[in-house]
Amino acid sequence: MKVNGTQYRAVWWADGAVGYIDQRLLPHRFETASAGTTQEVADAITGMGVRGAPTIGVMAAYGLALASLLGEDLESAYRLLDSTRPTAVNLQAGLDAVAPHFGSPDAALEAARSHDEAEVAAAQRIGEFGRELIKDGARISTHCNAGWLAAQDWGTALSPIYKAAEAGLSVHVYVGETRPRLQGTRLTAWELGQNGIAHEVVADGATASLIRRGLVDLVITGADRIAANGDAANKIGTYPLALAAHANGVPFYVAAPLTTIDANVATGDDIPIEQRPEDEVLYADGLTERGESARVRLAPESSSALNPAFDITPAELITGLITDAGIVEASPEGIRRALSS
Ligand code: MRU
Repeated sequence: MKVNGTQYRAVWWADGAVGYIDQRLLPHRFETASAGTTQEVADAITGMGVRGAPTIGVMAAYGLALASLLGEDLESAYRLLDSTRPTAVNLQAGLDAVAPHFGSPDAALEAARSHDEAEVAAAQRIGEFGRELIKDGARISTHCNAGWLAAQDWGTALSPIYKAAEAGLSVHVYVGETRPRLQGTRLTAWELGQNGIAHEVVADGATASLIRRGLVDLVITGADRIAANGDAANKIGTYPLALAAHANGVPFYVAAPLTTIDANVATGDDIPIEQRPEDEVLYADGLTERGESARVRLAPESSSALNPAFDITPAELITGLITDAGIVEASPEGIRRALSS
């Protein structure tokens, strides 16, 4: 995708380092950064400079290629990168693509590059399949950021929207703000604005009533891990959206590449849910007019917080999975069909 006329991906190989768009600074500042050690790659993922399931997989792949170039030990580099975030299985897909080639830095880098290209191609295919679900004038609700920042290019949930807009269809997107880190407000709204797509940011608690009032034709979200039975883990707040869609007969689709499917976990109950620091809920982070980081406490000093970063949407609430192998049912049979294509 282009930013101010220049083509970018969310992360890239930058001559012996891994370059990335620092997503913590958006939408106020567009800045790139570079990780020159395996620890810096891991810190960028843990600290949310780089986020979104397919993008962290590509970041981890380049991180392992960097560790190979630096002559590090495979097991410890793999363990360090693998421990950054627990929910998105794409992280392991990226590491597993590079690990067999670790002995040769050139081959490791080649494998990371192929993984990167494959994720971008998958995102494009998701867009082409998903675009068929979108009619001219559609009003679409989404949650978190499942756009190009989260998937290297195009996106998962946003890819069909970009493809529909490219084909000349008019769409309106309701962007759930996505407390506590506000990926919707900060990142999805920024992406859509950059691409001239009509959108409104809505408070997380508002979406269910928009659905009930008949203002939403379709919900599309991304996923961080999909179990063998079709249950999907995604950003906290996705499950209530699916419940509201189901209760009001509105289609609810989950868009994800095959690298997000984990056939080794039977159901969503087996997916590890990341618990993030309570400060993300207790404080609001922002930037001052001078661009300096600012933090304000919202809750009483004596209150503590619970901060699960993801929830599970059961397969029965999902109308379909938009994958790079086509649109399949969220069921064991649908998952088998997608993986065998
Ligand atoms: O915690 P984040 O911002 O990494 O969570 C991201 C999401 O939940 C996205 O919806 C998901 O990774 C799909 S990305 C294409």
